[in-house]
Amino acid sequence: MNTSNDYKYYQTSADYILSKTGYQPEIALILGSALGGLAEEIENPIVIDYADIPNFLVSTVEFHAGKLIMGNLGGKKVMCMSGRFHYYEGYTFEELTTPIRVFHALGVKQVILTNAAGAVNPAFQPGDIMVIRDHINLLGASPTRGINIHECGPRFFDVSNMYTKRLRKLVKEVAAQQGLTLQEGVYYYTPGPHFETPAEIQAIHRLGADAVGMSTITEALTAAHCQMELLGLSLISNMAAGILDQPITAEEVWETSERTVETFKVLLRETIKKCSRCR
Ligand code: HPA
Repeated sequence: MNTSNDYKYYQTSADYILSKTGYQPEIALILGSALGGLAEEIENPIVIDYADIPNFLVSTVEFHAGKLIMGNLGGKKVMCMSGRFHYYEGYTFEELTTPIRVFHALGVKQVILTNAAGAVNPAFQPGDIMVIRDHINLLGASPTRGINIHECGPRFFDVSNMYTKRLRKLVKEVAAQQGLTLQEGVYYYTPGPHFETPAEIQAIHRLGADAVGMSTITEALTAAHCQMELLGLSLISNMAAGILDQPITAEEVWETSERTVETFKVLLRETIKKCSRCR
């Protein structure tokens, strides 16, 4: 098993990263499917392969790059994961805490999570960007189960304001300044790797979700445990199963993400620029 209940395990990864960069990043970003192009925006990049970081995980998904990029964005020191880890790759929920715990060991206090998601809300359209207000995880498991790591956070922790209000307000203000209207809603987590059935999507809609995807919630819950400020953004890449009379393909997800990446880049850079430290 590639995880540990000992904080030193994550500090070892953090020490390696620090030895390559010499500085602590202020904000961390995790980029979803086909949004890896955002990393090109980072100035003076230092690129580290996940495979070179001790105790880190290795990305197995075709569309995910598997590199950590450190540098400047919007005048801030950022670290960016281009390529993330998913439950459907075979990792346990516990293992999926690794990236955020390494960020924590590096002193990161703010995290931006991005993903591609299917629209459950019929008023959404492919190409929309949804600010995640909250999520539903009916798989039920928490990535922080197991012996608690007190250096990260307490055994029991609040998740009622996980997707921080302050950052949601900020990104909406930044978008408005650019003449961009964002959607806001609830992200429903499915473990994948298959897309959902139309009946599942109808049920998910009735449960109150607006978008559906296969990532993000393990990172969000780990960040909440570490008391980080969190912003989650979903790029709506397709209408969810059964809304249109057509199959969902990974190519469609990829193509919509690629089409929207330029808008996303500006939104993220400007948000990071205006993102003051919270604590
Ligand atoms: N379902 C689950 N995950 C996804 C989808 C979807 O429709 N689109 C992009 N990621």
